[in-house]
Amino acid sequence: MSKTIRWGILGAGTIAAQFAQGIQAAPDSELVAVGSRSAESAHRFADRFHIERRHASYADLVNDPDVDVIYIAVPHPQHVESALLCLEANKAVLCEKPFTVNTREAERVIAKAREKKRFLMEALWTRFIPAVVHAKALIDSGAIGTPKMVQADFGAVFGVSDSHRVMDPMLAGGALLDIGIYPISVATFFLGAVEDVQATATIGHTGIDEQVAVSMRHVGGGVSLSGATILAASPFDAVITGTTGRIRLNGELSRPRGLTLTRGEGEERIELPYDGNGYQFQADHVNECLRAGKTESDLLPLDHTLATMKVLDAARACIGLKYPFE
Ligand SMILES: NC(=O)c1ccc[n+]([C@@H]2O[C@H](COP(=O)([O-])OP(=O)(O)OC[C@H]3O[C@@H](n4cnc5c(N)ncnc54)[C@H](OP(=O)(O)O)[C@@H]3O)[C@@H](O)[C@H]2O)c1
Repeated sequence: MSKTIRWGILGAGTIAAQFAQGIQAAPDSELVAVGSRSAESAHRFADRFHIERRHASYADLVNDPDVDVIYIAVPHPQHVESALLCLEANKAVLCEKPFTVNTREAERVIAKAREKKRFLMEALWTRFIPAVVHAKALIDSGAIGTPKMVQADFGAVFGVSDSHRVMDPMLAGGALLDIGIYPISVATFFLGAVEDVQATATIGHTGIDEQVAVSMRHVGGGVSLSGATILAASPFDAVITGTTGRIRLNGELSRPRGLTLTRGEGEERIELPYDGNGYQFQADHVNECLRAGKTESDLLPLDHTLATMKVLDAARACIGLKYPFE
């Protein structure tokens, strides 16, 4: 049996509950603590997931000596201060996506992790799903020749009120940062660094982008199209096309259960495991990194996260979206 990794969750909201299930499904890890802005919410969450230690402040959580790694699950603008708080207390950190609101904040957090020599990773959980990992291995082995184009989208009818964080400019709402990051990160994962970003969007009545389309040119000579909308249910597709074939993730981009490899006339469907709610793959990856004494992930290094933040900044500059607190 490998060393048990002890997790704490910072912020007891919607995704925290999903991830709590993910941690509990990952081998040799234990969800030992939760920290919330209020005692009531900490207790409610802890009771629901049978968590022993419940803290009525984030500061108490990060100072809990029985926690190895903290998962940050607060709204985007609160990521930077939460991550700095954890790192100052010498905790390893898994921070929800988008990593921060902008590149400037991301650089502060990454610099702190490097100064403290602590593990830090963005919780871009889709990258650790077996179908995505397998697609990358196939592409790296030359299965579709040189990858040239990626098309990906993430769209759903959110149907939320104006007070929801996705609609609120003060919480850095909008499709780009909330869900556009998924297709954009598919593009950068398979086509690499970006040298040009163009974007267009429709801005809703609360002042956030409700729909966004981003086109990118990648340093290696590839191009990509990424779309995101909170107004319509899109196919959640991801297709990577190379000079000799293409790969399509089967099922929704966030929940692919396999892939289809097409070469010439031949088409091969490869099924890959997807148990649980999918968050356990990411938790398991972090556990392995920590057991190996790493301070960053090889699959999602901090430079990739920083590059993604630069794309998000460039796309926001194109669509003229600046948050009131920036
Ligand atoms: N990976 C994914 O699939 C996924 C899915 C959804 C969201 N996310 C990411 O996770 C983060 C949280 O999203 P969510 O949907 O879980 O949000 P949520 O339901 O609103 O929960 C956020 C929690 O953060 C805490 N919080 C701290 N400061 C806050 C503030 N100023 N306003 C509101 N809440 C505050 C609250 O917990 P306490 O009161 O307990 O402290 C709140 O319950 C976002 O960055 C989002 O992008 C990821």
